[in-house]
Amino acid sequence: MALGMARPISSLLLIFTFLVYLSSLAIPSHSSSHDFLFGGCTQQRYAPDSPYESNLNSLLTSLVNSATFSSYNNYTILGSSPQDVVYGLYQCRGDLSMPDCATCVARAVSQLGGMCAQTCGGALQLQGCYVKYDNTTFLGVEDKSVVLKKCGPSVGYDTDTMGLRDAVLAGLARTGGPYRVGGSGDVQGLAQCVGDLSVGECQDCLSEAIGRLKSDCGTADYGDMFLAKCYARYSTGGPRVYAKPHDKSTNEGEKTFAIIMGLLAGVALLIIFLIFVGKMVNE
Ligand SMILES: *[C@@H]1O[C@H](CO)[C@@H](O)[C@H](O)[C@H]1NC(C)=O
Ligand SMILES: *[C@@H]1O[C@H](CO)[C@@H](O)[C@H](O)[C@H]1NC(C)=O
Repeated sequence: MALGMARPISSLLLIFTFLVYLSSLAIPSHSSSHDFLFGGCTQQRYAPDSPYESNLNSLLTSLVNSATFSSYNNYTILGSSPQDVVYGLYQCRGDLSMPDCATCVARAVSQLGGMCAQTCGGALQLQGCYVKYDNTTFLGVEDKSVVLKKCGPSVGYDTDTMGLRDAVLAGLARTGGPYRVGGSGDVQGLAQCVGDLSVGECQDCLSEAIGRLKSDCGTADYGDMFLAKCYARYSTGGPRVYAKPHDKSTNEGEKTFAIIMGLLAGVALLIIFLIFVGKMVNE
């Protein structure tokens, strides 16, 4: 009997350990402001150990340093020859605190280093910040080309929700400033311009992004429209919260945790049943 009991208990322990390990993988430990949204690199490459490379390194260092005290900045690093000039900027989401902005930009720069190794230009958008550099200037140039469009599944003919969504988007379009948030019921909206746009250019860029969200995403339960110099996003459900970076991962983590606890309870019941059956057979 003692031997018969030892086996189910040790396998229960094994399964439990495995599930705890799984849950530690599934529950994200980082704030979602570091989550990757998109990135890209230019085709052209620079030579290793070239003046361009050292200019680029000093540009990226300047961006990371600046993000400790400002949510936007641009730099132009001049070289001894015109081919060595590097232009770059970063923009943190308006609600990020300075330490969070600096961490986000540092992370973006380090990811760019891996993704765009030795390319002349690169750009990366995380949830909380955007970083871009190139050897041709793009500073102060309004650019409304679509970089990332994502529409969620359709909520169908839920006119109430779509009415709220349209009202929230209209609110975003009306509110001034480079960072805009709005919400009504479960619907949330968020918009952000890159800081090199003028007030008028930012308004123009956001009008375009918001218009495209409505026309391209239709009745989707969420929509993300990232243009080259501004973006607008909305969500009609609870979990996709933009302004509070921790909520999304908490909700997903809680869901995962509930599923794992359910699994655990099922496994425990099964083991108890097997032990019970074993006892019955032994008697
Ligand atoms: C950028 O770099 C590429 C590759 O080195 C070069 O062909 C191009 O002319 C450069 N552009 C400028 C504006 O310097
Ligand atoms: C770039 O930064 C400089 C210095 O901070 C600022 O004067 C200039 O307006 C900025 N240019 C753009 C296009 O944002």
